[in-house]
Amino acid sequence: MKKLFIETLGCAMNVRDSEHMIAELSQKEPYELTETLSEADLIIINTCSVREKPVAKLFSEIGVFNKHKKPNAKIGVAGCTASHLGKEIIKRAPSVDFVIGARNVSKITQVVDKKHAVEIDTDFDESTYAFGEYRTNPFKAMVNISIGCDKSCTFCIVPATRGDEISIPSDLLLQEITKAVATGAKEVMLLGQNVNNYGRRFGSSEEHCDFTQLLQKISNIKGLERIRFTSPHPLHMDDTFIEEFASNPKICKQIHVPLQSGSTEILKAMKRGYTKENFINRCEKIRALCPEATISTDIIVGFPGESDADFEDTMDVLEKVRFEQLFSFKYSPRPHTEAAEFDAQIDNTLSGARLTKLQARHTEILDEIMDAQLGKIHTVYFDELKANGRVSGRTDDGKLVFVEGSEELLGKIVNVKIVKTSRGALDAVLV
Ligand code: SAH
Ligand code: F3S
Repeated sequence: MKKLFIETLGCAMNVRDSEHMIAELSQKEPYELTETLSEADLIIINTCSVREKPVAKLFSEIGVFNKHKKPNAKIGVAGCTASHLGKEIIKRAPSVDFVIGARNVSKITQVVDKKHAVEIDTDFDESTYAFGEYRTNPFKAMVNISIGCDKSCTFCIVPATRGDEISIPSDLLLQEITKAVATGAKEVMLLGQNVNNYGRRFGSSEEHCDFTQLLQKISNIKGLERIRFTSPHPLHMDDTFIEEFASNPKICKQIHVPLQSGSTEILKAMKRGYTKENFINRCEKIRALCPEATISTDIIVGFPGESDADFEDTMDVLEKVRFEQLFSFKYSPRPHTEAAEFDAQIDNTLSGARLTKLQARHTEILDEIMDAQLGKIHTVYFDELKANGRVSGRTDDGKLVFVEGSEELLGKIVNVKIVKTSRGALDAVLV
């Protein structure tokens, strides 16, 4: 059997795209996954291009892979960097056999045997494509509900690499999730760049279904216990959506609300479509209707023109909302984006100092949140066997929990009591 080594960088959509590629390849001929590069017959690097660093790393990585691979093994570059650099990748690294864009993963079997094939069309509509079945974790399913992104955040390369937004028809989603439930998944993670903009445009179907309606339909699936989604956009968090989030027992009480900046001026320059006050208002609404919800976020520091006062606005939102998880980044100028051309790019040392300050304060907040978990009862869905007789799972509000146990716990939803806390995870006993 041929062996496949696949490295997945970047967001949850890339993780799902990798699953899709594995499923498609396996329908053509059986592949066994390997984590040892030197025994692979096919090597795929599924890339991310939202920041500059990983792109630079790609070419040195291709060099290393080429040196250590089997003589006839093929190397493919997939994902967002594939989309935006295209045949440039083969020019710079001729050892690469094929390039397949983030919007073209359904074509993997067409390019895998074609020397120097490049498939990166961002107009390609794979919203009704029936991918084969493959899941990394049998207890959980990831499902794309839309592809692409219609926004034009001035810092972001994603609309250029993933193309316009198209929603996947709800009947296909219901079929896919029902199938996953029948094979052991009690939890689904709905994926898209702006999940709560679902229904804005379908490729061929004429249906009318918004995100709230989709959540209602999905929660009617028998045997499905938990629904998560990422990422919603703050601009589309209307009251109806927040009410559904708060009242639907199958929706996990964890929500990602990407802030990017706390300064209304900077948000305007980013073209995010909301103000500092709108953002705080949406988080307050979530907390009012659903006090137990945890809120996570993404923040960029050092966006062009960001003054000390702008940065303090970001610190202020952190203080007011107390995000449980924070994904924070230094602004990185990207090709095909407006902000890369803006004057007033911020000095790297200053961005670095702001990032350190933001992360240090967030760490204090996180420690307070996690310390307060001691003695609490949580409902955990166990989905992974760990070393040393331990099993891990997530609480409804998304915290990672470890207990002593065996395979018997896998796939079960059980109440636990927290006996030890740390920044990243909680230790618990069954109750
Ligand atoms: N649609 C998703 C964002 C996808 S990009 C959402 O709204 O959550 C993932 C994250 O990368 C963004 O939220 C942003 O915080 C970060 N990011 C995107 N472009 C960036 C850039 N040019 N520099 C630094 N961080 C960036
Ligand atoms: Fe990027 Fe903004 Fe879309 S962050 S993915 S352009 S919502």
